[in-house]
Amino acid sequence: MFATDRVRLRPPTPDDAPNLFRLHGDPELHLLTNDGPFVPHHVGQVRARLEKRISDPAEVDDGVSLLAEAVADGTFLGGSSLWGINTFNRYAHLGITLLPEARGQGYGTDVVRLLCRYGFRNRNLRRLELETLAGNTAMRRTAERCGFTHEGTQREREYDGDGFADMVIYGLLRRDWTP
Ligand SMILES: CC(C)(COP(=O)(O)OP(=O)(O)OC[C@H]1O[C@@H](n2cnc3c(N)ncnc32)[C@H](O)[C@@H]1OP(=O)(O)O)[C@@H](O)C(=O)NCCC(=O)NCCS
Repeated sequence: MFATDRVRLRPPTPDDAPNLFRLHGDPELHLLTNDGPFVPHHVGQVRARLEKRISDPAEVDDGVSLLAEAVADGTFLGGSSLWGINTFNRYAHLGITLLPEARGQGYGTDVVRLLCRYGFRNRNLRRLELETLAGNTAMRRTAERCGFTHEGTQREREYDGDGFADMVIYGLLRRDWTP
């Protein structure tokens, strides 16, 4: 559907439940990627949520979740999303989480570029945002590599397991985007 020569993004199906369960089942990673408390789930709950999505078109208005896989052999790499789509002001947020073994090989950069393309070209948005903990160098470098600008820092905004960490905000305007 959306692909570079290495990475493809596609909607998840109920059969992806075991992979998504593994991706989102790490409480330490949850502290890095999520602003709510970690609540343990079993794989059946993940599957049920994916099944519900098939019959619930509401998600499309507010956000889209896309799974990332390797073009070469279909290996599951991780998840991504365009969330909080605001159709009046025409902006949205990007989210991405890769499995530990998929990181540091350029996949994240490909996924962010594909999400930008989807957001700007297919959803006709004019601004994309992403937020991450200030200490998340991998996410910050990936954002910068994809053309995002560091627009600000919110002090002590997110609980990171030890204390309250600063949150950095990155933005990319469509006019500054290189397709
Ligand atoms: C953040 C994440 C999506 C980046 O994807 P990735 O595939 O690992 O990143 P890439 O291989 O495309 O590298 C992109 C840039 O980040 C840098 N980078 C990657 N991993 C890094 C690390 N652990 N430490 C420092 N820099 C890192 C790369 O060197 C590259 O920068 P460069 O162009 O200056 O060389 C991925 O590491 C991940 O899923 N992390 C855990 C979940 C997470 O933090 N999600 C974001 C929550 S807001």
